Amino acid sequence: MKDIYSRRINYMRISITDLCNLRCQYCMPEEGIRNKKLHKEILTFEEIISIVEAGAKLGINKIRITGGEPLVRRDILQLIDGVAAIDGVDDIALTTNGIFLKDMAKDLKRAGLKRVNISIDSLKPNRFKEITRGGDLYKVLDGIQEAINLGMTPIKLNTVIIGGFNDDEVVDFAQLTLKDEIDVRFIELMPVGEASQWATERFISNHEVKKSIGELIPIHEKTSGPAEYYRLPEGKGRVGFINPISSHFCGSCNRIRLTSDGRLKPCLHSNHEIDIMQVVRNNPQEIAEVLKNSIMQKPERHFLYSNRHEISKRNMSEIGG
Ligand code: GTP
Ligand code: 5AD
Ligand code: SF4
Repeated sequence: MKDIYSRRINYMRISITDLCNLRCQYCMPEEGIRNKKLHKEILTFEEIISIVEAGAKLGINKIRITGGEPLVRRDILQLIDGVAAIDGVDDIALTTNGIFLKDMAKDLKRAGLKRVNISIDSLKPNRFKEITRGGDLYKVLDGIQEAINLGMTPIKLNTVIIGGFNDDEVVDFAQLTLKDEIDVRFIELMPVGEASQWATERFISNHEVKKSIGELIPIHEKTSGPAEYYRLPEGKGRVGFINPISSHFCGSCNRIRLTSDGRLKPCLHSNHEIDIMQVVRNNPQEIAEVLKNSIMQKPERHFLYSNRHEISKRNMSEIGG
């Protein structure tokens, strides 16, 4: 369906847990999530499926499962299996930190998962350990390799560039696209939760990142995601830029978000939320209506760094990017 700005909303991002096995410095506090939810405060996978079923009837055909780290949730295979069986859903993807991917990729694929996006902010083991507060880079690299071996393509790597931390690795990341058919995407740091301060002090625009790579050949194909894509000469995969700050893509935004505690978020950068958990539990016949109304409440754009800037009440780990 279309929203009031004539944007076609066909993409639902579902955060299935705000827990994570890592503690990336820009995403989560060191001690982990502050307000741990009780079991009953989290949507069950049956409840998520009933929301997706209603969404599919309204034209949602693309689902992304996020977290926290979605692979820490025990019933994820059943959830993917259930979502894959819904009429009208033709793209199911997952955004993960990749730590558990090597062990789980086969089962995920068997359950119906088509593709994975993997977050990776350094190719240097010590740095990776530092930014994630303890993560093992080699586990992630093995996970990426396993996804490649299983043909879960296109595999996309997400790299947030942070000034003074990994801006000297831009070329190394871009060169990963020479060997394999993977997409490497550079993401501008957004002021959400833990990253609020960093996002002003350590922000590097993708304009700078792009310049530091050198020759890039633009790819003019229409994609449903936020990235602009290029190729290195001789590149097998693509180099992408996600520019939520320097040139926001809100005009073509096609998404709505569902949090693990059952709130619909019409926009990543607005604190406005709609409680759909109560509806699923008490008035399930109204799910579609509530979804429709939430889509109609999508703002035209985000207002980061303007006089309408709202400080996010949630950390990124509770929203799922
Ligand atoms: P693809 O369909 O594979 O292109 O997925 P995607 O890029 O939509 O998903 P992914 O989870 O990999 O997100 C990549 C980055 O884009 C993350 O940093 C997200 O926070 C950011 N992002 C995704 N959606 C939005 C959005 O609606 N607004 C803003 N500002 N950033 C977003
Ligand atoms: N700014 C930009 N990207 C972020 N992510 C998490 N926090 C931020 C932030 N503040 C990214 C993660 C992951 C994706 C879902 O969102 O690195 O790749
Ligand atoms: Fe976990 Fe991802 Fe957040 Fe890192 S960015 S703490 S891996 S949810």
